[in-house]
This record gives sequence, C-alpha cells and structure tokens, in this order.
Amino acid sequence: MNGTDAARRQGSPGLAAAWHPRDIPLDAIDHGALGDHPLLFDLVVGASFVEISAEHYTRNLVDHCAGRDEVVAWLAGHWEPEEMRHGEVLRDYALRAWPHFPWQAAYDDFHADYAAACSADELEGSRALEMAARCVVETGTATFYRMLADYSPEPVLGRIATLIGQDEVRHYHHFRQYFELYNGQEGRGRLAIVKALRRRFGEVEDDDVWYAFKHIHRHRHGREPTAAQYRAMKARIRPIFHRHFPYGQAARMLLRVLNLDGVPKRAAEALLVPAMRLALMR
Ligand SMILES: [Fe+2]
Ligand SMILES: [Fe+2]
Repeated sequence: MNGTDAARRQGSPGLAAAWHPRDIPLDAIDHGALGDHPLLFDLVVGASFVEISAEHYTRNLVDHCAGRDEVVAWLAGHWEPEEMRHGEVLRDYALRAWPHFPWQAAYDDFHADYAAACSADELEGSRALEMAARCVVETGTATFYRMLADYSPEPVLGRIATLIGQDEVRHYHHFRQYFELYNGQEGRGRLAIVKALRRRFGEVEDDDVWYAFKHIHRHRHGREPTAAQYRAMKARIRPIFHRHFPYGQAARMLLRVLNLDGVPKRAAEALLVPAMRLALMR
C-alpha cells in the first residue's frame, strides 16, 4: 500500500498527494518539443537520482525523531513514499524521453557515492533545528520544480513538475508545523534558526548536484567530468535560474520559518531575494 492509499484509508485528507503516477500520460510525450535538450536531460535525470534515493535521508530522520509517533508516522508513511514516487515518475519519464541513456547503471554508481555521503552526522543535533533545516530542502525542491514547470518546453514534463512541486510545498508545511512543535519545547532563538537554515542552504548543492552530474556524465561520455566541465554545466543553467526561478516564493517560504510579521518580513524579503539570486548564480 503506498502513501496515498494509506492516507485515504486512514481518512486523513491533506496528508498525502492527490495524484497518482498512472495519471501521467507518458505515451503523450512530445519528443519534438523535447528535441536535443542536454540541460533538461541533466535536470530531470539528476532529480530522479536524488528523489529515488529518499530511503537514505528519511531513515536518518526517522531515527532522529523516535519518540514522536505523529512525526515518525508521517515521515515513514507519507513523506518517504512520496519522495520515492517523485523519483520513480522522473525515472520513467527519462526512460521514455531518452531511451538510449543507461539510467539504471548510472543510478547504481550514483547510489554508491550518495549512500556513503548520507550519514546521520549531517543532521542538526536539535530536532527543532533539523525541522527548520528540512524547510530549506523542501523550499529548494518546491521552487526547483516550479522553475522546471515554467521552463519545460515539453508539456508532460511540465505537468509532472507542477504535481511534484505541489507535493514539495505540502512537505514544507509539515516540516514547518513540526518545527513549531519541537521548538515549543526547545525555544531556539532566531539567530540559531538562521544559522541552521544557512548551513543546510550551503549543503544542498555540494553533494547532490555533483554526484548526479558526475555519474550522468560518466555514462554519457565514458569518463569522469572535469571541474571545468562541472562549472560549465552550472554556467549553462544560470540563465534558466535567472529567467524561471521563483525567488519571491523561495524567500517567503524561508522567512515564514522565522515567523516574521509585517514590516520586518517585507524588509527581510527585499534583502533575501537579491542575496538568493547571487547565491544561486554562483
Ligand atoms: Fe520530492
Ligand atoms: Fe519533499
């Protein structure tokens, strides 16, 4: 029974996604619109690798939250299956759109690196701060998929990205709710929260993107990419971020974790949007 079915049977609307992979018409992929699109290929295959590996980071988090049945039940019963389903849908899309790419072999190599890097050491020691940091990750995925939906020249991929993005926003709301639950006991101040957000913001890109690019490149070109090729790939993606990334949405989601109201929130948003532009355009 997957997360969606479980939630329906438990009568808990709002916990789980309202869509199913069978709703995605993979037969209707417009290969003409897709064309020869190496960046779209990198984005979709890279996202499929990270999402389908969800069991590693969910297991760490479930252990971290032991003792809170409500949180553990959502993480294991809804969040993990939904993240894995995102990976499966993106994988199935990649297999149809780019049938010559050896997805499984590339994923197996990616997985070996990724699993070794996913250790419990990366979690925040405080449960409240870990939940806040998770809001950064879900903000990152929610806005990434919104960007992908806006950018995709291929309608089926646009639809997939829209549906996954909606799931990620819902995940964000759960983590924010759990952050408030834990912080009601821990009482972490804004400075500690900002530091946790910054730490996770810095970590998101380092491992995931590099490992994905490394193994995609190896299985496409038969050799590891150089640092210059990695920089060149990021340089090609920058204009897409510039045109399609929802910076305002990302800033609002992050600031909501800090529970700022009124003028300070607007001022912080005005500062954060250009700061994020600079950070993501590196
Ligand atoms: Fe996801
Ligand atoms: Fe998510």
